[in-house]
Amino acid sequence: MLRAYDLYKAYKMGKASVEVLSGVSLSAKASEFLVILGSSGSGKSTLLHLLGALDIPDKGDVEFQGKSVFQRAKKSRENYRNRDVGFVFQFYHLLPELTVLENVIIPRLIGTPALKWLSHRREAKKEALAMLDRVGLSHRVKHRPNELSGGERQRVAIARALINKPTLLLADEPTGNLDEKIGAEILDLLSEFNSAGQTIIMVTHDARVAVRAHRQVRLVGGKIEKVVPAQPSPALA
Ligand SMILES: Nc1ncnc2c1ncn2[C@@H]1O[C@H](COP(=O)(O)OP(=O)(O)OP(=O)(O)O)[C@@H](O)[C@H]1O
Ligand SMILES: [Mg+2]
Repeated sequence: MLRAYDLYKAYKMGKASVEVLSGVSLSAKASEFLVILGSSGSGKSTLLHLLGALDIPDKGDVEFQGKSVFQRAKKSRENYRNRDVGFVFQFYHLLPELTVLENVIIPRLIGTPALKWLSHRREAKKEALAMLDRVGLSHRVKHRPNELSGGERQRVAIARALINKPTLLLADEPTGNLDEKIGAEILDLLSEFNSAGQTIIMVTHDARVAVRAHRQVRLVGGKIEKVVPAQPSPALA
């Protein structure tokens, strides 16, 4: 489903340039749960941003369902980012002024023509409530993010990421800010969506988190260095 070819990315800091990715290639199959491991600063977020077209590589390309992401027109690339891909971040990135329900509805309404606004909003609300029910937050829909625990905020972020039924879910350290128990609950939730067919690529520095995946790769020195066969997880046995 997704293939990255020879990705390069450097950041310019004044006159110096720091190369973060030095020829990353990887692929993910439909319905796969792939984890990219790597230490802090190894370029995991940089790579995930390229896979989701939140940023542009210096060299290389990403192919999604056989079609280049970076050689297509800007509009089509935006559609890829907004429709085909859903994002979950370590620090949730929820809009603080909006309720839980509104945070989840927003991506569903992007691009709705004014004339269709009311009927779309009704439909979007129904779908957002169903999605919030799936992530176990039916009792919190009118709360604002600052009235929620970290684990609850991440559930909202997952509902928001999945409301447009993206083909691919990209998760950047989704449990990085949570304690072990709540983090495990978030991983259970992601595993449930994966079992229902959702393709997931997750980056993490935590090898304990990574055992949930079908397949693990490691980002070292700007390259995908080694592929670790997935360990059977006692929690899943
Ligand atoms: N916008 C930027 N400008 C300059 N340097 C950057 C920028 N973004 C990231 N970097 C640098 O690139 C390197 C990789 O950053 P990145 O955020 O991808 O790492 P990471 O593996 O996600 O780390 P962490 O586990 O801490 O989240 C770091 O050394 C970082 O300082
Ligand atoms: Mg990061």
